Amino acid sequence: MSKPKVYATHQMFEPARKLIESRCEVEYWRGPNRPPRATLFEKVAGKDALICLLTEKINDELLAAGPKLRIVANIAVGFDNIDVPACTRRKVFASNTPGVLDETTADFAWTLLMAVARRLLEGDRLMRSGKWTGWDLDQMCGADVWGKTLGVVGFGRIGRAVARRAGGFNMRVIYSDAIRAPLEAERELRAEYVPMDRLFAEADFISLHVPLLPETQGLISTARLAQMKPTAFVINTSRGPVVDEAALVAALEAKKIAGAALDVYQKEPQVHPGLVKRQDVILSPHISSASVETRTKMAVMACENVIAALDGRKPPNALNSELAGA
Ligand code: GLV
Repeated sequence: MSKPKVYATHQMFEPARKLIESRCEVEYWRGPNRPPRATLFEKVAGKDALICLLTEKINDELLAAGPKLRIVANIAVGFDNIDVPACTRRKVFASNTPGVLDETTADFAWTLLMAVARRLLEGDRLMRSGKWTGWDLDQMCGADVWGKTLGVVGFGRIGRAVARRAGGFNMRVIYSDAIRAPLEAERELRAEYVPMDRLFAEADFISLHVPLLPETQGLISTARLAQMKPTAFVINTSRGPVVDEAALVAALEAKKIAGAALDVYQKEPQVHPGLVKRQDVILSPHISSASVETRTKMAVMACENVIAALDGRKPPNALNSELAGA
């Protein structure tokens, strides 16, 4: 019997490759950038499964081009690139990779937080410029992190992992979410639930951990930025469109806030030109979950979801688990 056919829009780490190739015939996109849309349309035809990244828009038209598809497996926890209801209508499973990237992403949110507070990249640029003249009392003074107030927006797995790390810096932790966390979680993390207005007014560091939804799009708006302390920072490792970049640039220019560190952007891979020229902003290329260990786990997880769907089982991370297995 011939093996099921899979199209993967990226080559994968060896453990994932071995797993999927043991069960399926896999064709990979090997191009330098992301596959052109026309290629995706052509490649899904006749395939039983698609393994994709968050850069691929999976909509009804693409699903129509792959009538044999039984699953679209995203190698990402966020799935705003997938029209899940369209998948459900077409009886195609959609899956993501939750859980395995929480700690790695939290580490990176902290990397950005510390770096922007202590002006690390400015210092690095100065050293490389050859213009450092030696120790000086008021040179590149940043903001303390320890003992400050961390505001976590979105208190899911990643938000909580970020909050947990704040204990080591003796920080006060406040959070906002559409749903309040159980009391045990609040107690364990020493986190206080506050309304969003208070969080924006009181936090010294605001770290964003919400999914991209109509309610979270543009959450960091002119109005929210105006509520912040002039000494406060915004850290975004969630999704770019959660921040209104033009509003952020205006707030930074007017010194309404002290700085920002962003890993994600409104229109990736573009970056607002007003951000690029600022010293009080750190920009990284959407790498919060990018450790070899974690990206390997994510790819393996996507392959496990594919294998389950092709075996007629429910994928462990199905986003539309109301669909029955075959
Ligand atoms: C990365 O941004 C992800 O959603 O996994």
